[in-house]
Amino acid sequence: MTIPTAPAALAEAMAFLLQFARTARTTGSLVPSGAALSRALTRHIRPGSAHRPRAVLEVGPGTGAVTRHLAQRLGPYDTLELVEANGPFVDHLASALRHDTRLAAIAHRTRLHHGFVQDQRLGDYDNIVCGLPFANLPPAQVKAIVGQLLSSLRPGGRLSFFSYVGGRAGQLLDPGQARSRHVLREAIAPHVVGSEIVLSNLPPAYVHHLLVPARADCDCGATAPSSRTPASPA
Ligand SMILES: C[S@@+](CC[C@H](N)C(=O)[O-])C[C@H]1O[C@@H](n2cnc3c(N)ncnc32)[C@H](O)[C@@H]1O
Repeated sequence: MTIPTAPAALAEAMAFLLQFARTARTTGSLVPSGAALSRALTRHIRPGSAHRPRAVLEVGPGTGAVTRHLAQRLGPYDTLELVEANGPFVDHLASALRHDTRLAAIAHRTRLHHGFVQDQRLGDYDNIVCGLPFANLPPAQVKAIVGQLLSSLRPGGRLSFFSYVGGRAGQLLDPGQARSRHVLREAIAPHVVGSEIVLSNLPPAYVHHLLVPARADCDCGATAPSSRTPASPA
């Protein structure tokens, strides 16, 4: 087992670039998320206990850039599900779960699903981290997927996802993006508890954190809403 080396990271970046060339709309990015963005996306994941294990879902893990950070935040009893639509990325992840030290450590508690998230029967999760390029998806699909993910969260559960800064420029090239972004903003508005900007990512990104409130009588680990920076365009 090996920790990814510079050549491994380069191979991963090349794999991402190749998939972007094949399926730009669903891949949504030229490069995998960087460390700062991965940290921001996973900052609300807390390890569970034997008494109260946590269930985590990652949608659109790609080559596993965020998954590796997520793995370090899981406790020994917690479980992870990955849903990825791109076949070569699924193969890459399956191999990484065997050979990459950080992922191999959680492989026995991880289930990898190949398919579109909207076609999956999801379980109940404490945290969902979503890497989908929402701006590239049709508005009806954006609304359906956000609803599907929010309804898969346990009380007190959180959904974190990102969108790239400068998305408005994309709207000039593809006017359909404006409608998708509008639908996304409306769908998440009642649930957003914090947004932050990660300038050191390539490209810079906004991270949005959503919360499904805990029941009043339930100590589900939800914390008071907080906002690091003013909410920004999704
Ligand atoms: C912008 S990439 C993010 C990859 C990775 N999370 C990262 O941050 O580096 C989007 C990922 O979502 C996947 N994807 C796109 N639409 C999907 C869908 N409907 N269901 C599951 N995965 C999807 C793509 O194949 C790709 O791996």
